Amino acid sequence: MCGIFGYVGNKTNAATIVFEGLKRLEYRGYDSWGIAVVPTASEKSKVKSEKLINTIVVKKKTGKIGNANVNDMPSSSFAFGHTRWATHGGVTQTNAHPHLDCTGRIALIHNGIFENYEGIKKTLVKKGHRFTSETDTEVAVHLIEEYRKTMALAKAVQKAFNDMAGLNAIIVIDSDRNQLIAARNGSPLVIGFGHQENFLASDAAALLPHTKQVHFLEDDEMTIVGHKGIMIFDAKTGTKIAPKVQKLTWSTRQAEKGTYPYFMLKEIHEQPDIIADISETMISPAKRMTEVIRKSQGTYLVGCGTAGYACMAGSYLFSKVAKRHVNWAVGSEFGYQLNFLTKKSLVMALSQSGETIDILESVKKAKNNGASIVALVNVLGSSLYRMADHKTLIGAGPEKAVASTKAFTAKIAYLVLLAYGLAGKTKEGQTVLMHAVSSGKKVLSSLSLARIQKLASRLKNTEHIFVVGRGISYPASLETALKIKEISYIHAEGFAAGELKHGVIALVEKDTPCIVFAPNDEAYGANLAGAMEMKARGGFIVGISHKPHEVFDYYIPVDDACEATIIPNVIVGQLLAYYLAIEKGLDPDMPRNLAKSVTVK
Ligand code: F6R
Repeated sequence: MCGIFGYVGNKTNAATIVFEGLKRLEYRGYDSWGIAVVPTASEKSKVKSEKLINTIVVKKKTGKIGNANVNDMPSSSFAFGHTRWATHGGVTQTNAHPHLDCTGRIALIHNGIFENYEGIKKTLVKKGHRFTSETDTEVAVHLIEEYRKTMALAKAVQKAFNDMAGLNAIIVIDSDRNQLIAARNGSPLVIGFGHQENFLASDAAALLPHTKQVHFLEDDEMTIVGHKGIMIFDAKTGTKIAPKVQKLTWSTRQAEKGTYPYFMLKEIHEQPDIIADISETMISPAKRMTEVIRKSQGTYLVGCGTAGYACMAGSYLFSKVAKRHVNWAVGSEFGYQLNFLTKKSLVMALSQSGETIDILESVKKAKNNGASIVALVNVLGSSLYRMADHKTLIGAGPEKAVASTKAFTAKIAYLVLLAYGLAGKTKEGQTVLMHAVSSGKKVLSSLSLARIQKLASRLKNTEHIFVVGRGISYPASLETALKIKEISYIHAEGFAAGELKHGVIALVEKDTPCIVFAPNDEAYGANLAGAMEMKARGGFIVGISHKPHEVFDYYIPVDDACEATIIPNVIVGQLLAYYLAIEKGLDPDMPRNLAKSVTVK
């Protein structure tokens, strides 16, 4: 959700370093942004005004960073910034972070929700603190100011942080010292170690141009980051903790757009290579994981949104290929239906970011019931990754478009390997994935892209789109509909094709776009029957299939890739959503109201 970037070092363009850091975090989704700097001593002496001495200079704006710059900010070796995704208080410049205390000498940025802020605010108001925003965040900085009257800053931050209920990350600066003081519980924070400079960020990918040496702060860890040294300690007890330095494996180039107009298109195009890579390099981790699954009594897949649909697809794959019953649940619901878990249960949590709060909370509850946790994540060092008993990185590389694409197909590829591995047919699983690679490449050929773009141009003004499929094409339908909704803002619904006559078909009228997945599997005939039912009510039928059929008004060919056909099928759905957004003049990378990693409930 909110992005955080902080710098302390020997360079004097801290505002620009932080600004560029925030730009790398734009993909997380935000509605306003802000930066605070403490001017260098020489800068302060240039300024006659007493006001600037010992105060912090803040710039805040609503909307996207776009063509903004920070040329008007003073030179500084010490700054931090924030991209805000509004929770408490509307999207206004005043509500944007950083927030200042009454004296303007302490500034704070925050990710999360300060659940008990109301009572604390009332007490602080009685004590004379003046508030300017509607946010929960501002309460934290005044609380620190209050504690600061009787204790050192770090102690005041620690005490205030421990008073804050909820899942929060805060960073605090004060104008007297060049140190970032931060603490986290729930919301992610990463320390980046540089040479004569150090960093703090909400997301390791934002640190890549500066350093690959990082420490992921654990829950209830606090840190003081100076330009020459870093201290980490337990926020509850104050006990010192040695940093666990890890090396990031992603490259800066992987996190850039390259020649593509949008990250989403780049990430869609990367999929065949990622799947081929998984098929070649993931056999050993998949083997280890199959043993874990084999030994468990009851395996459950959990994910949210797109990751949830990958879980659903997994339940079909495990059933069909491995003859194994694996339940799935959406992360936000699993917590209410896991009382049956035992020490022998296995929960496989799927998440691109590894920071989705609904997953983390479900996993904590599952652990309390004694279950073992397998994590299939894309981000090294993420909370889920650290929390899991068995972990696998899906190796999709940084995913920066808000809408998840390559992480979905990477998870499916891994699930295909697991399902075939459980069936003792790993080689066959690899072959099937290589079919998905070549089929995916064909979907991404210029001829096919043109066909999908033409369809988008035809559908761009439609209000509703229905997407249907049976068997594993049901999660493909749900995922396609989700992609269309989130980036083109067209109302799209995915259904199990068999459910049509139980109600949904009432919505189909003349020219209603109906997308039908009809791959070469056991549901082929039934999928066509669904298409015919919709056509008989006037529906405009878009067939995604290995062969044309007279019921299709518009046909998109997808070569059969056996049990992995869902991969190229969903690539078609992703491309359709992408081109619908482009046709409508929308930014597919940053859909409204959405954030990349959903760290609040
Ligand atoms: C949709 C999308 C979301 C995420 C969901 C879970 O395109 O990106 O539905 O899939 O928020 O996120 P992760 O996978 O990070 O747990």
